[in-house]
Amino acid sequence: MDIASPLALLGGISATQFMRTYWHKKPLLVRQAVPGFKPLLGRSELLQLAGQDGVESRLVRQLGGGQWSLTHGPLPRRRLPRLNQPGWTVLVQGVDLHVQSAHELLQQFRFVPDARLDDLMISFATDQGGVGPHFDNYDVFLLQAHGKRRWRIGRQKNLSLQPDVPLKILTHFVPEEEYVLEPGDMLYLPPKWAHDGIAEGECMTYSIGFRSPKQDELAREIFLRLSDPSDELAEEVVYQDPKQPAVTHPAEMPAALLTFAREALQKALAEPLALERALGEAMSDPKPNVWFEPAQDFGLIENVRLNQRTRMLYDAHHIFINGESYLASGRDAELMRQLADTRRLASHEVQQLSDDALELLSSWVDAGWAHSTPE
Ligand code: SIN
Ligand code: CO
Repeated sequence: MDIASPLALLGGISATQFMRTYWHKKPLLVRQAVPGFKPLLGRSELLQLAGQDGVESRLVRQLGGGQWSLTHGPLPRRRLPRLNQPGWTVLVQGVDLHVQSAHELLQQFRFVPDARLDDLMISFATDQGGVGPHFDNYDVFLLQAHGKRRWRIGRQKNLSLQPDVPLKILTHFVPEEEYVLEPGDMLYLPPKWAHDGIAEGECMTYSIGFRSPKQDELAREIFLRLSDPSDELAEEVVYQDPKQPAVTHPAEMPAALLTFAREALQKALAEPLALERALGEAMSDPKPNVWFEPAQDFGLIENVRLNQRTRMLYDAHHIFINGESYLASGRDAELMRQLADTRRLASHEVQQLSDDALELLSSWVDAGWAHSTPE
């Protein structure tokens, strides 16, 4: 992607300028970010997706008197209110995992590292529908796909939430700006900006969402992976306490056990590339509801394209794919990085891989993580 050229998507500024001036800093409204944008799937296709097992969906209803109701999917049509009833919204998460054109739309946002990109969420609302004034912990691009939505936004310090409601609703929303978005218009909001979007007539909004790992959750994930020994032949170190005296307080933890545990953590972290490996595996791990269909025919590997659900990342030493890591160097590393960045490799490039790398690539094709096509 050319990060220095002006983009209509960003209102005529380059990705470089956008990241420097707006990303994480201030909102940006772009009229006709995607000129003539048409919804990638119609209302009934979206609602059908919301009814499927393995697709994350929610129904939000305004009940009046400041009351809200939240229902988690799957949401078959019979669980949805009537289309002529105002004030309800269905939100479908991870549409890019199921719909190729949604995955392609996300590619336009790859001026942000893939490790930060989350998913495409699509909301469908009837007139006056919305999820209430709230804030999110992550950046979001709100692309209007169908109908109109009135957004009110504000940067407020007081982010206290209403108690006893099933949704995150701000107690005191103080809007500072207001915009009505029409199809093709897009609003970028940094994390923690208060916002409230209300449908004016039937409306569909696409949220290009980012993920911001929580430090404590990431630490937990990394520790779990650090404890997964990469060298199965490594000698097992077992706690020993030949000097343990007899105790009168049997429930008290022995101090030596704490020292043993601290050493274990220090050793795991000190292992070369252990943190890099664990982080890459964690960041490339697909969401729990993601599955792959193994290939039907096992032929020659030709042109290769990553499956839309595959997460592939790399660092200076590793290639990470769907939660697994491989050390790579030389031409193999170059080609695998190219596959991760462009999500495809041409057959003449595939032919340059070493036998080991080719075998690995074939196993990804067999697992349905990538597909081989003659063209
Ligand atoms: C929506 O599309 O209704 C909600 C999106 C958001 O506020 O983050
Ligand atoms: Co939001």
